[in-house]
Amino acid sequence: MTLNKPHVLLTGGAGYIGSHTYVALVEAGYQPVILDDFSNSHPVVLDRLQHLTGQRVVCERGDVLHTGLVTEVLQRHGCVAAIHFAGLKAVGESVEQPLRYYRTNVGGLVSLLQAMETADCRSVVFSSSATVYGDPAHIPVTEQSPCMPESPYAHTKLVCENILASLKGADPSWRVGVLRYFNPVGAHPSGLIGEDPSGAPNNLMPYVTQVAVGKRAKLRVFGNDYATPDGTGVRDYLHVSDLAEGHVAAVRALLAREQSFTVNLGTGEGTSVLGVLDAFERASGQPIPFEFAPRRAGDVAKYFADVSMAEDLLGWRATRSIDDMCRDSWRWQQNNPDGYRTAGNAPTSPVHSLRAGVASPALTGGVV
Ligand code: NAD
Ligand code: UFG
Repeated sequence: MTLNKPHVLLTGGAGYIGSHTYVALVEAGYQPVILDDFSNSHPVVLDRLQHLTGQRVVCERGDVLHTGLVTEVLQRHGCVAAIHFAGLKAVGESVEQPLRYYRTNVGGLVSLLQAMETADCRSVVFSSSATVYGDPAHIPVTEQSPCMPESPYAHTKLVCENILASLKGADPSWRVGVLRYFNPVGAHPSGLIGEDPSGAPNNLMPYVTQVAVGKRAKLRVFGNDYATPDGTGVRDYLHVSDLAEGHVAAVRALLAREQSFTVNLGTGEGTSVLGVLDAFERASGQPIPFEFAPRRAGDVAKYFADVSMAEDLLGWRATRSIDDMCRDSWRWQQNNPDGYRTAGNAPTSPVHSLRAGVASPALTGGVV
């Protein structure tokens, strides 16, 4: 019975991290409510979520910039908290289209917060990123490390963090959880949901899986002359299911305590690009052809998180290994070579909503 469960709004809940968080929230006894405009996701994910959770998926189609719609969704479902995933995330694209990034990422957050105020729902978890630290001088990166964003995307995340701090300063009844993700990869172990980039992937893991499945000829390893053990870039890769559980811990902490927090979510361990390739070859049995290429503009040599604050404040720590991440990414890619658009993946159930009322005709949003 979903009526008694605490309802949590997930803006961007049909996307990569949002969909995994949906599953984790259901497993933890919450009722997530997705609000997504499907600008970077596919409705087939809703069928998959229904299959994984064994219950109808609550999803409203709409733009988070539409404050009236967001208010209506929060009120109708009686949401007690929101997790704000909706946004744009490609660093390179943000350099070319800064206004679009500020409008969606910053405008989207302001719109959500205004809606939450109207709906008297003042607990929010925000998807921030380790990219706010820029090129950190000290590793592991703690939450006290200086924030020195280097791209418009990174700036939007820091502006959003500042907006949340201002709001909390003006009205202490707000509870704000800022989560700075390191490098989320992997997929649900079922192989039913995963990362579904459109076009050529920018990020390492989806590129590797597309090489493994034969969609791309070879990986280009950007830089082999960094000051790292094998010369390639080192990152803190984090299984998306661990990240999803981090969101559950954050919501639980916000609802249980008055405290707000800003925490890193990572494993605390760094893996080089060649280390990822080794792990992937072990997990998949597939050789990954690669060549070394020049460094990619804007990349830093090495960073990984200090994760002690997440453990202290949220009681959360990552449990899945790089081998788990590779195995689950590979399963997802094998089962869905073209992501959710893979032939035979047409949505089977047109309506996925437990909505209690009928939306005002003035609203542009609808139920998927
Ligand atoms: P994603 O693109 O898969 O998911 C975002 C979802 O938001 C998509 O389903 C998209 O359709 C939706 N969306 C976009 N604009 C919208 C709007 N105006 N209204 C309603 N819905 C909208 O991305 P993701 O990887 O799941 O990332 C989620 C969040 O986490 C983003 O804010 C991103 O910046 C942040 N983040 C991601 C990473 C990463 O490596 N994936 C790292 C750090 C932070
Ligand atoms: N890499 C390659 N070849 C590729 C892609 C990546 O060698 O085809 C290398 C990069 O040079 C880097 C490492 O793999 O050394 C990881 O690169 P990703 O693009 O996967 O990840 P980034 O660390 O560059 O950035 C990601 C997200 C950002 C986010 C940041 C921190 O793309 O949005 O993690 O969370 F801000």
